[in-house]
Amino acid sequence: MIIIDNLLSPAEVNHFRQVLTSVPFNDGKTTAMGMAAGVKNNGQADAQHPDVLTLTNHLLAKLGQHPQVVSGALPQRIFPPCFNRYSESQTYGYHVDAAIMRIPNTPDVLRSDMSMTVFLSHEDEYEGGELVIQTGFGEQRVKRPAGGAILYPSSSLHKVTPVTKGERVAAITWMQSMVPDQQLRETLYELDQSIQSLINKGNADRDELDRLHHVYHNLIRKFSVI
Ligand code: NI
Repeated sequence: MIIIDNLLSPAEVNHFRQVLTSVPFNDGKTTAMGMAAGVKNNGQADAQHPDVLTLTNHLLAKLGQHPQVVSGALPQRIFPPCFNRYSESQTYGYHVDAAIMRIPNTPDVLRSDMSMTVFLSHEDEYEGGELVIQTGFGEQRVKRPAGGAILYPSSSLHKVTPVTKGERVAAITWMQSMVPDQQLRETLYELDQSIQSLINKGNADRDELDRLHHVYHNLIRKFSVI
């Protein structure tokens, strides 16, 4: 699980929220596949609406160039982000995201390796509405400040607990990774984060850094499937 703070700036969050108040929302069940539909109770912004499409493309561009997203997911394909809303008492019970998704308006499909939630509501705007992810170390409950995001393996069971007060607005998306193996992807992420932190410290030996970079890129070269 990777927490990304300030994926969107406060100004971007305000803009997204503003636009989302004036676009039509549909019943989220219509986009849930199979068993997930039975436990899904939320609203989803009309993905075909021109104003929603603009937000989708804005966020998509942002994700494609964000260093932590690129390093953590090594994305080959990113599903166009969707925007959802949980009003009071709405919830999404435990489910697994579909493994294969058709990318709208294209002939392409995507295998979901990583799922992402971008929080658009401020934490004090709602109660409940936590993203709960089952991991090998028990349940992780996630709620982040507006503009923050979480990236987690799509293979995990997860749910959104009922909103008990207020409204929770978020964006969600999925990524197909160039490195399908989750453990390997995590290890590559740790290696890259270490290299970045050595660079930021500014006193690491240049030759050693080059060697580490070399190792990182050769591992990607060996294990990427594109
Ligand atoms: Ni899900």
